[in-house]
Amino acid sequence: MSDNRATGRIRSYVLRQGRLTSGQAHALKNYWSKFGIDHQVPPLDLDKEFERRAPRTIDIGVGMGDTSLKMASCFPENDYLAIDVHQPGTGSLLRQIEEKHLRNIRVMCHDVVEILSGQIPNQSFDQAFIFFPDPWPKKRHHKRRLINNSFLNLLVPKLKENGCVHIATDWQELAEHMMAVCDSYSGLINMAGAGHFSPRPHWRPLTKFEKRGTNLSHQVFDLSYFLNSKAIPEKS
Ligand SMILES: C[S@@+](CC[C@H](N)C(=O)[O-])C[C@H]1O[C@@H](n2cnc3c(N)ncnc32)[C@H](O)[C@@H]1O
Repeated sequence: MSDNRATGRIRSYVLRQGRLTSGQAHALKNYWSKFGIDHQVPPLDLDKEFERRAPRTIDIGVGMGDTSLKMASCFPENDYLAIDVHQPGTGSLLRQIEEKHLRNIRVMCHDVVEILSGQIPNQSFDQAFIFFPDPWPKKRHHKRRLINNSFLNLLVPKLKENGCVHIATDWQELAEHMMAVCDSYSGLINMAGAGHFSPRPHWRPLTKFEKRGTNLSHQVFDLSYFLNSKAIPEKS
């Protein structure tokens, strides 16, 4: 079910779990206790979860986790919290974390909206990635899109001062929508200047979602913001 009948909240995903491969099932059974974090109500102690204090990124809607995996192996000095609702993808990600001997990724398999609502302390992250969020192209589905003002109300307080949000999509109309939402959000500063897309960050890994888009001749749009709380007008 993608609508929460109890709260009336419209979800940004539809859970089609599909079958777990035996590798994914094995990884979920054996590695969740090493790298997985259960959804729970009390706020997380991220230093405890990662067993250190290091620059930290939240990677939202990771799919099979390609970006988190590549970033974690290229930047062992940083920590990555990888979140998706999709269990098979979580299983693949856990398997690869173990195979690649990575120790700087933790994984959550739950709705990021609920995680950000209660489980993450403010000013936890230096960066947030939202790469190729589900585009929900039909007009009647636009309300399912992840990035809107209420989502930013949850995400932005979790960023440290000068913390960055990096977004990418191959859907022009979604890119324009996300830019309009983020450009007008108090405290978020568009690194390319309001109304402009950013160049593709050299470090952003190529994933199958981007490849699929470019194979369809879609242009890819990057958006990069940083948080400047001094730019938030004082409430009178
Ligand atoms: C199109 S995939 C992109 C995967 C990846 N970021 C990439 O660039 O390859 C979008 C992912 O977002 C996940 N997703 C959508 N809404 C979510 C939510 N509220 N909480 C967690 N994951 C979500 C979906 O399950 C899906 O795996």
